[in-house]
Amino acid sequence: MSAFFLSAFGIINPLLKDITMNQSIKRHIVILAAGAGTRMRSKKLKVLHEVAGLAMVDHVMNLARSLSPAQITVVYGHQGDQLRQHLADKEVNWAEQKEQLGTGHAVQQAVPFFKDDEQVLVLYGDAPLVTTEDLMSIESQQFVLTAQVDKPTGYGRIIRDGDYVDAIVEEKDANEVEKQVKEINSGIIQAPAKQLKAWLSQLSNQNSQGEYYLTDVIALAAESNQPFTAEVLSDSDAVKGANDMAQLAELEAIFQQRKRSALMKVGARLIKPETVDVRGDLIVGHDVVVDKDTLFEGKNTLGDDVTIGAHSIIKDCDLAAGTQVAPHSILEGVKTTGACSIGPFARLRVGTELSAGCKIGNFVETKKTTMGQNSKASHLSYLGDAEIGSGVNIGAGTITCNYDGVNKFKTIIKDGAFIGSDSQLVAPVTIGENATIGAGSTITKNAPDEKLTLSRSKLRTISNWEKPKKK
Ligand code: UD1
Ligand code: CA
Repeated sequence: MSAFFLSAFGIINPLLKDITMNQSIKRHIVILAAGAGTRMRSKKLKVLHEVAGLAMVDHVMNLARSLSPAQITVVYGHQGDQLRQHLADKEVNWAEQKEQLGTGHAVQQAVPFFKDDEQVLVLYGDAPLVTTEDLMSIESQQFVLTAQVDKPTGYGRIIRDGDYVDAIVEEKDANEVEKQVKEINSGIIQAPAKQLKAWLSQLSNQNSQGEYYLTDVIALAAESNQPFTAEVLSDSDAVKGANDMAQLAELEAIFQQRKRSALMKVGARLIKPETVDVRGDLIVGHDVVVDKDTLFEGKNTLGDDVTIGAHSIIKDCDLAAGTQVAPHSILEGVKTTGACSIGPFARLRVGTELSAGCKIGNFVETKKTTMGQNSKASHLSYLGDAEIGSGVNIGAGTITCNYDGVNKFKTIIKDGAFIGSDSQLVAPVTIGENATIGAGSTITKNAPDEKLTLSRSKLRTISNWEKPKKK
């Protein structure tokens, strides 16, 4: 399968590595995440809210790591323990900002980690849409990432002098002329550590918000004849951050739109694209078809010609070429090793592994169950902790009774067995090769190869029985 890897940031182009600008520079990435995020009105820390199934700060961490920095420093403050717990396994420096006195003050907290030969790149924990490509294409060492927008309200305005920036003026401090400027500050800046440290130490909080603005560094740099360049984002959506739930939904929509475009670009057929969501990574082969209202979560791989029916949820699955999933199916942790037919209305849970030619029909639930080639469970079954051979037919209503209320046990069904409808297989139990189980049986002992085994009381008709009459 020639696959395309669609990561959290779109399609990874292996060539990108080669066009990385200034591989040799030592980059120190500072992630600002100390803000209170009051407008989210949530117990959860703002940067831990998810976009496409991944916390905003994780998107930013992924971006940071994709740039191979020498170090990463996270500035934390409000509800900082939540953040530290969330990033516990990440190799980062922690800089505490006890009081949130502004973005400049936040970066000052990271200064003790600065090394003089580093370039410091500042990222915001609540702005997850910037991509590796956006930053890799920049050649300047000292820049502000900007965007041209129709509605600049709320953002810092870029006051230019040609390619350079004279100053950034915050909305609340801007005069009428400055407010007309439609080039805005993304918040992302890069500067040499030594100079940045010096400029940060000169910041004052004499402004309308009484804060130490990181953006004032730009004017200080211009005054000392070391101005920042303005690097304009090609996609102005990338500057967007989330301050409230409505903006979070907007980020999600932008993100999903990007994912869908990337998927279609590599040839996936999305029948109604705006209804397909991808939260996580999706690898697709050729001629994959995804019908409307489907959701992909975690890490999924779809081989050539896989089709996913409408209203399905696919999580952490690896589906081999030709596998067909009919509508309303929910699959989690499923692996097919050949073309299989699944659904409609199938629920396949973690540890389900199906070989070529298997069929799982409607209202069948499986869990930790393997099936050999061409085995079928076409209707209404629960198959849990089962090892099923090839060419097995599981009749409608079959249940593997895997749980005695305390422990779980395994059911083994050997090649060619036929399980009659409405049977209960009480585990631990083995059904032999080519064995037949009579419909309606409760099997509590191993059934031998090749034989018919059944447990049924004798059929009888009560001749003197009368239908009850209404009183
Ligand atoms: C900031 C910029 C503005 C820019 C906008 C882009 C300043 C002064 N303004 O404004 O020019 O257009 O971002 O979105 O920099 N934070 C801290 N500690 C603090 C304050 C903030 O860690 O004391 C963090 C927040 O958690 C957030 C980021 O810094 O991740 C941005 O802070 P925010 O208050 O949202 O800045 P804006 O007012 O939006
Ligand atoms: Ca903001």
